[in-house]
Amino acid sequence: MGRWFNTEGPCVQAKHYMILPSARLPEVPGLVARDRYFVVHAPRQSGKTTALQALAAELTASGRYAAVVLSMEAGRAWGDDLGAATRAILDNARSAARANLPAELHPPPWPEASDGAILGRAFGAWSWACPRPLVLFLDEIDALEGRTLISVLSQLRDGFRLRPADFPASVALCGLRDVRDYKAASGGDATRLRSGSPFNIKKSLRLNDFTLDEVRELYGQHTTDTGQVFTPEAVAYAWELTRGQPWLVNAVAAEIVDTMGVPALTPVTAEHIDQAAERIIVARETHIDSLVDKLREPAVRRVIEPLLAGKTVNFAPFSDDLLYTIDLGLIRQTGAEVEVANPIYRNVITRVLADSMFAGIPDQPGPRSAPTADPPYSARPSSSRPTAPATPTRPTRPSSSSTLTFRASAFPPDTW
Ligand SMILES: Nc1ncnc2c1ncn2[C@@H]1O[C@H](COP(=O)(O)OP(=O)(O)O)[C@@H](O)[C@H]1O
Ligand SMILES: [Mg+2]
Repeated sequence: MGRWFNTEGPCVQAKHYMILPSARLPEVPGLVARDRYFVVHAPRQSGKTTALQALAAELTASGRYAAVVLSMEAGRAWGDDLGAATRAILDNARSAARANLPAELHPPPWPEASDGAILGRAFGAWSWACPRPLVLFLDEIDALEGRTLISVLSQLRDGFRLRPADFPASVALCGLRDVRDYKAASGGDATRLRSGSPFNIKKSLRLNDFTLDEVRELYGQHTTDTGQVFTPEAVAYAWELTRGQPWLVNAVAAEIVDTMGVPALTPVTAEHIDQAAERIIVARETHIDSLVDKLREPAVRRVIEPLLAGKTVNFAPFSDDLLYTIDLGLIRQTGAEVEVANPIYRNVITRVLADSMFAGIPDQPGPRSAPTADPPYSARPSSSRPTAPATPTRPTRPSSSSTLTFRASAFPPDTW
């Protein structure tokens, strides 16, 4: 079987069409070379894990580092139970090291320590035993919360001065949130983590969505492998609807190629892209569903509702609600303005909020749209496509320097 458009977790070069992942975070090798601790952040399904795994493999293959991605996900279930959370994380760390590093770089047995020191002691022992500087990418750091997150951060801070011999030479925290939230997590006092914190805003990397050229390149890989062409209009329209959000870019193409089964001899057109986007919205796969889940959060609704209603709301540029909603990937900032991140999300959000209003439960998003028995794409007239409730439009307000202006109708495609 040839390569395919992956929509299920991290991409692998041998199986999936993909944009060269390490090139998406070009600063990382330089930060590692300087023994830096840094933050990599981007919304869900943006390609963080894919990029970090590729970077770790390249750093290890260079022969100079022992670099590995360690997921913090196992700590999620344990909440504030620091000891249990850390032990679960370290169990997984050992498996990740076995799967990804040569035997001489594997960790020694973890030393005994009190709950609040296990992680630091383990990382210290591993660094000391490892013949190369240890580089750890701590993925899914958002899985940790409360006492556990605070303790992990302070163990990293305490060990920082012992690197590279007795502590990891370089550490990245990877997740949704930017570095400011890790400062807040250290007890709500932004100065506490800053004093002596190895993580600071200058070393915070944001993984961006794909450019139009990258979408063209990705879809072009499918053309190279199968001969199936995407017309230039189709590529441009796919970028417009997704704004390059990596999962959406793949999902639209996968829907056309794998689910709608458009034959390889048929060029993919903008109409196919439109149908695929509609089907993705209606099917509400996990990516879309977790977006909808976020609409339950008051902080998100305070930002999204006025934006969709076309109201002019001026938020301070560093408003917590605003920054949080940006970090989630629901909205994005363009210059002094803020808009829903892409027309597909906008369409989803508009439908969900409209559903919840019809259901008379203003603080709950409505139930899933009724599942539709989708006819094959070719049998489905485009006029049957349910359209999103119209959103009032209004002219863009001139922006002031101290506030951000919401733009209600920024997208060119007609019904999106
Ligand atoms: N380098 C890439 N090239 C093409 N698509 C990618 C790439 N990286 C990620 N994706 C897309 O994003 C999805 C999520 O990737 P993943 O690495 O798991 O993201 P994250 O860790 O940010 O949640 C993949 O299933 C794929 O659809
Ligand atoms: Mg990930």
